[in-house]
Amino acid sequence: MAFLKNCWYVAAWNHEIGKDELFRRTLLSEALMFFRDTQGVVHALLDRCPHRFAPLSKGTHKGDCVRCPYHGLEFDASGACVHNPHGNGVIPKAAVVRAYPTVERYSVVWVWMGDADKADPALIPDFSCMDPATHYVGKRYLHARANYVLETDNILDLSHIEFLHPGTLGSPGVKDAATKVAQSGNQVTISRSTSNDRMSDFLYDVMRLPQGIAVDRWFDVRWDAPACMLLDAGATPSGTPREKNPGAPMFPHLFSPETESTTHYWYAVSMARAAGPHGESVVENIVAGARQPFEEEDLPMLEAQQEAIGDRDFWSLKPVLLASDAGAIRARRVLDKLIAQEQA
Ligand code: FES
Ligand SMILES: [Fe+2]
Repeated sequence: MAFLKNCWYVAAWNHEIGKDELFRRTLLSEALMFFRDTQGVVHALLDRCPHRFAPLSKGTHKGDCVRCPYHGLEFDASGACVHNPHGNGVIPKAAVVRAYPTVERYSVVWVWMGDADKADPALIPDFSCMDPATHYVGKRYLHARANYVLETDNILDLSHIEFLHPGTLGSPGVKDAATKVAQSGNQVTISRSTSNDRMSDFLYDVMRLPQGIAVDRWFDVRWDAPACMLLDAGATPSGTPREKNPGAPMFPHLFSPETESTTHYWYAVSMARAAGPHGESVVENIVAGARQPFEEEDLPMLEAQQEAIGDRDFWSLKPVLLASDAGAIRARRVLDKLIAQEQA
């Protein structure tokens, strides 16, 4: 299936791209090179020199420019060749590398893979809960040998937590959760809630609730194309109203396709600094606790699904649809529509 081009993709956590580094990452089957200029601003170029196609990321970072490791052509952040050490030094017209618009926002470096003149930063979905100025943000990165839309299914259909994560995130009431799907423009939200549920010891701990009490849980996920999700999940003692607690943690899940069958996965736990200095350790505890379900339970499942699917098209396999799929299917339909519109 084609990739959606005209949208913002997550390229990296901002800390992944160091000051003096040439950082290579493949997105949508294209190798890109990211670097920071002398002001610290991130830029992205195609990681392929137009002379003999050497990866520029193996070259040298020189101030606001990059020098190709093979024959020394130098390129600026716009992708223009600014120095040719050969012959009379004239710069051939074709010596240009494609540059991709980038924005650093919400602890993330975003990149636009489509028409540069459509790259409006206002289209970046709101992840202000990851703004490091106002929030503690615990961040992790995973690489998955699975298609990125399978990852969307995973987060939008949280009925799986009862079966795949029984000892950590799951609870017996999740498959029967009251579920609502809504769509606003191209944004899909799915809300699930359970009542009179019991959780794992780990969840009582991180939610600071007495072990073993009956709880009402909620899981609200917001999806934006291509695969950026914000999960608001929590629990209250059964029968008490859901608190609007500004210090409650939030759980962003961000995916970008590396190729058709591999995905970059960034997940985070964030908490408003206003919640107090304990927020930093709470965030780190939750992120550390999420390692087992995300890395040891979800990741092997996603990779096994991909292996079973192989290179077949998802819809061609005629997947069985369940009630719990409604949000995930809605998101797939929106994504398919956006891609079809681009191809038209
Ligand atoms: S391959 Fe880059 S200068 Fe020759
Ligand atoms: Fe999961």
